[in-house]
Amino acid sequence: METPYTSSETYIDEFDPLDYYKTYYHPKEGTLTGEWLNFALQNFHETFNSGGVEGDLLINFGAGPTIYQLLSACESFNKIIASDFLEQNRIQLQKWLRKDPDAFDWTPVVKMVCELEGNSDSESCKKKEEKLRRTVTKVLKCDALKENPYDPVKMPQADCLISCLCLEAVCKDVKSFTNVLRNFMSFIKPGGNIVLQSVLNCSYYFVGQKRFFSLSISKEEVEAAFKEAGYEIVKLKVIPFTEKQRMDISNQGGYYFVHAHKPCL
Ligand SMILES: C[S@@+](CC[C@H](N)C(=O)[O-])C[C@H]1O[C@@H](n2cnc3c(N)ncnc32)[C@H](O)[C@@H]1O
Repeated sequence: METPYTSSETYIDEFDPLDYYKTYYHPKEGTLTGEWLNFALQNFHETFNSGGVEGDLLINFGAGPTIYQLLSACESFNKIIASDFLEQNRIQLQKWLRKDPDAFDWTPVVKMVCELEGNSDSESCKKKEEKLRRTVTKVLKCDALKENPYDPVKMPQADCLISCLCLEAVCKDVKSFTNVLRNFMSFIKPGGNIVLQSVLNCSYYFVGQKRFFSLSISKEEVEAAFKEAGYEIVKLKVIPFTEKQRMDISNQGGYYFVHAHKPCL
């Protein structure tokens, strides 16, 4: 059965960050804590720690209520601006940044990243959390469907923009996906970087009882969209999804990682 496109209004009314966290990132039951987190965290580690992608400012577009995507980046950038469309997600991010007692628990994920960095004792993990809290300077509203997604805020250009599992949720078709990528150009310095990681060939995902639309995009379509939007691809990696036992929750065929440059002037 085809999943109809999920409108912004439905996101506002029905995307529950707690259900999202429990379903996908809960340390015991989360369905994205295996293949996805291993793939995404390893790629971020390679890009930011050994790959030499660094700078002053990193923008995270469509952060959701999650922080896993920032744990490597906070070692390589002085400032991070996190952003998401939904107020309920931004509230969860702020809770974690403020160390609220009921903030989501990311300690197992922090440990995974510290292991990649070769230092996973509890002191190093605590230091990493504190480093990330200091590095995230703002949590802003963004809307991918607007020509200026941060309107009315005037954004500085970043050395790097990252986004995970977001554009497939927001874009109806490949044309819209390409347009959003093209719009991202204005937030990236000439010669700066963009890193996208997400699902391939996925047409829906559940949050609680609610089924959300996902744009089913292939590796070839992702590659063509980046080129058409004007980027130079540095690296494109895909892996198949093999944990098929949870296809009732989301039906991705695999995952992709793209690192690209905005061309220099
Ligand atoms: C599947 S979640 C991904 C969350 C997180 N990035 C992750 O890696 O788990 C999809 C995200 O798209 C965001 N979203 C929905 N509509 C949006 C829009 N119009 N512009 C930007 N983000 C939007 C939602 O708020 C949600 O955080």
